[in-house]
Amino acid sequence: MCMIAAMTVCLTLAASQTSDAADRLHAMAKSLSPVPPPPTNPTNAFALSPAAALFGQRLFFDPGLSRAGDVSCSTCHDPTLAFADGKQVAEGLNTGTINSPTILGAAHHRWLFLDGRADTLWSQALGPIENDLEMGSSRTDAVRHIAGNEILRAEYTALFGPLPDVENLDRFPVNARPGRPQWEAMGTEDQHAITSAFVNLGKAIEAYERLLQPGHSDFDRWVASIDAGTSSTELMSPAAHRGFGLFAGDAGCRQCHFGPMFSDLEFHDLALPPRDPAAAPLPGRGAGYELLRKREFAADGIWSAAPGSTKARRAAGARIGPEHWGSFRTPSLRNVAKTGPYMHAGQFETLSEVLAFYNTLDGQVRRHHHAESVLQPLNFTPDQLADLEAFLKALSGDPPAILLRKPRRSNGTEPPKSAE
Ligand code: HEC
Ligand code: HEC
Repeated sequence: MCMIAAMTVCLTLAASQTSDAADRLHAMAKSLSPVPPPPTNPTNAFALSPAAALFGQRLFFDPGLSRAGDVSCSTCHDPTLAFADGKQVAEGLNTGTINSPTILGAAHHRWLFLDGRADTLWSQALGPIENDLEMGSSRTDAVRHIAGNEILRAEYTALFGPLPDVENLDRFPVNARPGRPQWEAMGTEDQHAITSAFVNLGKAIEAYERLLQPGHSDFDRWVASIDAGTSSTELMSPAAHRGFGLFAGDAGCRQCHFGPMFSDLEFHDLALPPRDPAAAPLPGRGAGYELLRKREFAADGIWSAAPGSTKARRAAGARIGPEHWGSFRTPSLRNVAKTGPYMHAGQFETLSEVLAFYNTLDGQVRRHHHAESVLQPLNFTPDQLADLEAFLKALSGDPPAILLRKPRRSNGTEPPKSAE
């Protein structure tokens, strides 16, 4: 309470408290922006090669890497949909059970896939090519596709050297991939030659994906202006400002969504209602951890350029507890307004549905007694929820350069050089 006599002191105190709060909020904002370059990946010697990135870009848009020539990486990671697909769960050759995440900023993640079963982008990229829900091809046919196309072959050999003699179908049978009789019938050296070339495709795709950084958003523009002391409402709306105050404060979102990617890069179980209550519950990290342990393309394995590096050794240090059963990786919130539906199984169509969930936790399904109980219902008013949503929308960034969003075709046609 301010007595009249002490009014001046009191006002000064109030003002300094306000400015302390503003300073704290600004410091917090700076911990979230700007997005730095992605961490280096010594396990891929081609990660920073511009020529590998150009080749990788061709591969990313090339349906020739799928069994029937009709699915490419860009089918589910569509540049016009912020490199996601706008669907509840992925649809490739078959319908999957998991929502396609954006790959903008994927190079920042420590664990790839929502259950973290891969630890490098290059090894991640090899999964969909041989996954029957996705592209359904085989490593042998993928390599044959490169060898059979003049441009792909020339770019491949310039980067990685000669390809195996895949025209010889006796030595390199159609559909040959591990687990199939065609593969088991091949000689060990031929298997090794195919896998080695296949790994190179993944390494080129990583070089391209590393260029797909989340662009500057209104939030980043505001954070950049803080030191300059420029008025902020022009850069970010008043609702988004209020929403940021809630996000960083009472809403507690920062417990898991922190750092420039707005993610702790680790795994949590929000006890979300399942997409299909009749289906078996998804194990998430519980299974992802086991798959990571058993993976063929390990960062500390024979296909890695730096098996002894800190990055490569990380998986060996990964730990799992019973609370990880059913947990999924905290997604980045950058570009989140563009990448619905939301959550690992696309449980929510819109951001307001996501926020309604966090507000009440209605529909939560606790699958076991080890489940985390970090989340508490927010009990926010509709206006507060609208502010939080306005803040999430202020995280939409400029898209990557147009040249990175267009297919480089294997028939030689290049994307137009002009801007959009
Ligand atoms: C049929 C749709 C589909 C196709 C085709 C597809 N993906 Fe994906 N992608 C997904 C889904 C779904 C996930 C998440 C799966 C999971 O977590 O289990 C994913 C995950 C990823 C991730 C990990 C992102 C993260 O945040 O961890 C990257 C990177 C990626 N895909 C790149 C690729 C590349 C490169 C290709 C082509 C070689 C490709 N995808 C083909 C649907 C697809
Ligand atoms: C306990 C850690 C944690 C807290 C606290 C938390 N989140 Fe999340 N958030 C996650 C995880 C994990 C997921 C993904 C869950 C899944 O798919 O199973 C997620 C998903 C989301 C998504 C969907 C993103 C997408 O691409 O599907 C949004 C939006 C989101 N959170 C916003 C928020 C907001 C806003 C708050 C604060 C009210 C918040 N989160 C608090 C961990 C957390």
